[in-house]
Amino acid sequence: MEIIIQPTYARLAEVAAEIIRDALLKKPNLVLGLATGSTPIGVYEALVQMHRTDRLDFSNVTTFNLDEYVGIPPDHPYSYHTFMRTHLFNLINIPVENYHIPQSTVVGHAEFCERYEAAIVDAGGIDIQVLGIGRDGHIGFNEPSSSLGSRTRIKTLTRGTLEANASHFGGTVDTVPKMAITMGVGTIMEAKQCLLLASGGPKAEAIANAVEGPITAEVPASVLQMHPRAVVIIDDAAASQLKRVDYYKQVYANKLELLSRDG
Ligand code: GLP
Repeated sequence: MEIIIQPTYARLAEVAAEIIRDALLKKPNLVLGLATGSTPIGVYEALVQMHRTDRLDFSNVTTFNLDEYVGIPPDHPYSYHTFMRTHLFNLINIPVENYHIPQSTVVGHAEFCERYEAAIVDAGGIDIQVLGIGRDGHIGFNEPSSSLGSRTRIKTLTRGTLEANASHFGGTVDTVPKMAITMGVGTIMEAKQCLLLASGGPKAEAIANAVEGPITAEVPASVLQMHPRAVVIIDDAAASQLKRVDYYKQVYANKLELLSRDG
């Protein structure tokens, strides 16, 4: 794993956006896997800024979102459809037919999940998958105990995840959708590159478990240790429980030095 530790959330968001920009400049028809939650918002803001000031072109980009709650309409204020339109899709030049988000109805969900997987394959696979992390180490909505080989399917959310999202749905866990459609851990692992983002002290334990703990379904993000191109981009606070912070910082400093020598 490549571990990039930045002093602030703003810097980690910029670093992640720059990785996506550089890939997009090399491959205009980039296929992006996207995440919701508060963590990627700064990345999307930076990409929108690059679109506005540098004309970064998203007209040939295809995207697949990780997940969506089951049973709420796409135009619900806290649906992931609304989130993505608000924070990214309505602010860049991506054609509406190019972005994909799991549908939030349970009708025919098994077929839907199969079609979602097939659409990713038809697009040529995901080039870069953006990921946040839950405090229990979940990625997408793959809660602890999810099969590390799982595919897109419906998952029941844990009480901790319901509590973390309660403020969006009227304040109590009873009002949060109990289930979500999510890409599986196996689906995520097929992305050519994964960017795992985390900010703040409340994520420090999850990051330490994911990066330096054993690979286990109890911490779904830990499977990224097996991914050949997993990049973990975190701030100092999220890095605060890692054992090898100095080493990771040295590795990254050496990489930047080599890159600057190459011009
Ligand atoms: C939800 C999402 C995840 C996200 C996580 C953390 O569970 N399904 O994709 O990573 O929340 O969200 P945040 O970035 O707001 O902490």
